[in-house]
Amino acid sequence: MKAGGKPGRAAGVRIVLLGPPGSGKGTQAELASRRFGFPWISTGELLRRAVREESPLGRRVAAILEAGELVPDGLVAEVVEGDVRRRDPEAGFLLDGFPRTRPQVDLLDRILERLGRSLGAALLLEVGEAELLRRLSGRRVCGSCGAIFHLVFHPPRAEGRCDGCGRELTQREDDREAVVRRRLQVYETETAPVVDCYRDRGVLRRVSAHGEPEEVAVRVQEEILRVQP
Ligand code: AP5
Repeated sequence: MKAGGKPGRAAGVRIVLLGPPGSGKGTQAELASRRFGFPWISTGELLRRAVREESPLGRRVAAILEAGELVPDGLVAEVVEGDVRRRDPEAGFLLDGFPRTRPQVDLLDRILERLGRSLGAALLLEVGEAELLRRLSGRRVCGSCGAIFHLVFHPPRAEGRCDGCGRELTQREDDREAVVRRRLQVYETETAPVVDCYRDRGVLRRVSAHGEPEEVAVRVQEEILRVQP
């Protein structure tokens, strides 16, 4: 099955996308939000934008991102709550990179409670470490529109330029090998408990993230279509 068709069925769902760095959360979130039309909220992208804009938040978090550590929960709470508040509450959302600590799960619970909604599912993208390292070492991103490319697996049409907006593609500061290893450690210590928590609540769905992005998209989007708004 090719990813595509029946966009309306997933409108209004609230989904968390989990997975280690490089598992393809951003890639899959972009494809799913394009197909289904619901907002894609990436805390990593919101934080990187703050850094690029040199806002007060950006200045506080720049060194943390560069080192591959997690931004304190209180700051992440401000970022996520501010973003969710600006959205249409009926539109649903796909959260990429949040929650990634146990206290952030509680924060999301409070946000959903205020909205009078529940979480539809937590999708976990599973892929082995060697593949994660291959994906992260070749990643290039557009600092302007957030589009994600890979030198080998998903090259842009014009070398070094974003297909969407034509701006220059760059390598993320935190994609250097030493930082990637630290991010993988942080995932194991801080985010594995989030996975366990959603498993215990019965909302966790595991999705193999091996294979071409389009093949993974079929699996991810089939899961999304099973979620009730
Ligand atoms: P964030 O941006 O969330 O980074 P991450 O979770 O480490 O995940 P990545 O963005 O690295 O990978 P991805 O899974 O999205 O993969 P992608 O689709 O790009 O966070 C960055 C930092 O911000 C954190 O370290 C932390 O400091 C801070 N932060 C963010 N949220 C936070 C929070 N909630 N609390 C505290 N701190 C927070 O794909 C990777 C590459 O592989 C791309 O090149 C892509 O083209 C390629 N690719 C994708 N799928 C495939 C495929 N199937 N086959 C081949 N290549 C593929």
